Amino acid sequence: MSTTTQLSQFATDTMEGLSRPQKVMLSKYFYDAKGDAIFQQIMAMPEYYLTRSEMEIFQTQKDAIFNQVCPKGLPFNLIELGAGDGSKTKVLLKHFLKMGIDFTYYPVDISQNILDELVAMLKNEIPELDVHPLNMDYFEALKHMEQFTGRKNVTMFLGSNIGNFQVERLDRFLKKLQGYFKPNDKLLLGVDLKKDPDIILEAYNDKPGITASFNMNLLVRMNNELGADFDLNQFKHYAMYEPVTGEARSYVVSLVDQVVRFSELDFEVNFEKGECIHTEISRKYSVKNLNHLSEKCGFVTSANFFDSKQYYVNTMWEVV
Ligand code: AVI
Repeated sequence: MSTTTQLSQFATDTMEGLSRPQKVMLSKYFYDAKGDAIFQQIMAMPEYYLTRSEMEIFQTQKDAIFNQVCPKGLPFNLIELGAGDGSKTKVLLKHFLKMGIDFTYYPVDISQNILDELVAMLKNEIPELDVHPLNMDYFEALKHMEQFTGRKNVTMFLGSNIGNFQVERLDRFLKKLQGYFKPNDKLLLGVDLKKDPDIILEAYNDKPGITASFNMNLLVRMNNELGADFDLNQFKHYAMYEPVTGEARSYVVSLVDQVVRFSELDFEVNFEKGECIHTEISRKYSVKNLNHLSEKCGFVTSANFFDSKQYYVNTMWEVV
């Protein structure tokens, strides 16, 4: 690497994370084009109940959600953080349009690839929708939202995305979001609930190994983009669920003592047999945990929408 080369954020974060005593990678780096495609497979697998639960809520309770979002029929901005492929959101979008409401949809995602797919799908399926995609991360999106002062803002953060935040970062994020809220603004959060631990673990440790390939794709990405020489046969995916904290945790574990070299970064990492990289937290909540979170961040809960199995909740928050 020449001294004048500008390192990418991915390179900097990788070197920092893999140099820590407990190695860590940020889960946002799962989502390159291949990671997006594997995540779509995850959402379709029987073990990953989260997507189906949220879909059921939207399909069966869209009227009640609409009444919360837009009780007075006034125009609004609909901001979706971490929009992904929009397969569930389009149920709400179609319903809101059917109700004859004037709204603009702002899908936010760090993956330009998935935003392009989303916009193409929406142009095709809902051509009358006014869409303004924003390719940025959540904190950048909050900054951008400072400009959205004229209309009521409805922010959606679906798909259990809040579960992937570190606790302190989530608090900071929600408090910051709360700071931009006007009295009629709404936040709709999709949250996975604590339940039978085996059901949760299975969602992150499916037998066909789709989640394993999602996790291991981080190594592939480091090989492709940073010149690393991870041998995928010498590492494995490991997932666990801790029912007290509600954390499903994913790791990549080294099966042997080994050194991994990054030819493009002048960087190498030693792994002992059994040593792991912590790659993701997917936190689950009880309703009590959620009430505590909303209160701590200055919101009040205005409605909860559960699926029939009570696996999942879409919770609506506002400020008073
Ligand atoms: C995007 N996020 C909410 C997913 C989750 O459930 O934490 C990512 C995921 N990781 C493994 N499977 C799915």
